Amino acid sequence: MKVGVNVRATVQATVQATVQATVQLDPHNLLSVRFSERYGSHYGAAQQSRRVFVEGGGVLRHDSPRVLEVGFGLGLNWRTTLEALDGDALDYHAYEAYPLSAAELAGVAPGERHPLWLALLDGWDAAVMAGHLDLAHGAQRLRIDFIDATTAPLPRVWAHAVYLDGFSPARNPELWTPDFLARLASSLAPGGRLATYSAAGHVRRGLMAAGLTVERCHGLVGKREFLVAHKQ
Ligand SMILES: C[S@@+](CC[C@H](N)C(=O)[O-])C[C@H]1O[C@@H](n2cnc3c(N)ncnc32)[C@H](O)[C@@H]1O
Repeated sequence: MKVGVNVRATVQATVQATVQATVQLDPHNLLSVRFSERYGSHYGAAQQSRRVFVEGGGVLRHDSPRVLEVGFGLGLNWRTTLEALDGDALDYHAYEAYPLSAAELAGVAPGERHPLWLALLDGWDAAVMAGHLDLAHGAQRLRIDFIDATTAPLPRVWAHAVYLDGFSPARNPELWTPDFLARLASSLAPGGRLATYSAAGHVRRGLMAAGLTVERCHGLVGKREFLVAHKQ
């Protein structure tokens, strides 16, 4: 099947295409020097990604799920979602303010051969410069805006699942304010779910104040609870 790379030529003024300094922690994980925090969970990043985001977000309940992610990072949540869907349709829209380089991404998933991942690596550096990546492979679509999500125009009443995967509220507070949580709630379609690994009290209260019904869920061994917030 044909893979198309469509890179918008206009450089957006708001793009922060800063190549982020990282430290390699293990073959699949990096530490962000900017945020002094690791990208993936300490407790089996791929399993946590599946448990918190794919299952928590209820993605497999939809025939053609629409996912909005805050913090594309290493692309692990996206790759985990693709794997869980096993070729089924997916419309995935992510935001990333401080993109890594294609070389860093290639390094964390050397065995990954999904055509969209290979196309992403090919088009990545040019797309970061352009501020926008748009890929399609059959019924699977990926769009990434390289922009600060807190100032981005988010889609309204669109997502079946929102993955809120910034760095921790202590290190990356702008992604966890009541204001931003309310904007994410507005992105959810009725019946949609917002999933996040943080179970902090102020995050839970912010989601409730945004009109969502918040459920505390159990993480995998060694990991605290995480939150799933439902929109009626
Ligand atoms: C924990 S990492 C995300 C890991 C990623 N979801 C994955 O599956 O590999 C957090 C990400 O949020 C990004 N980020 C932090 N602040 C942001 C903002 N204001 N807007 C968009 N992205 C942001 C960071 O650059 C980083 O890539």
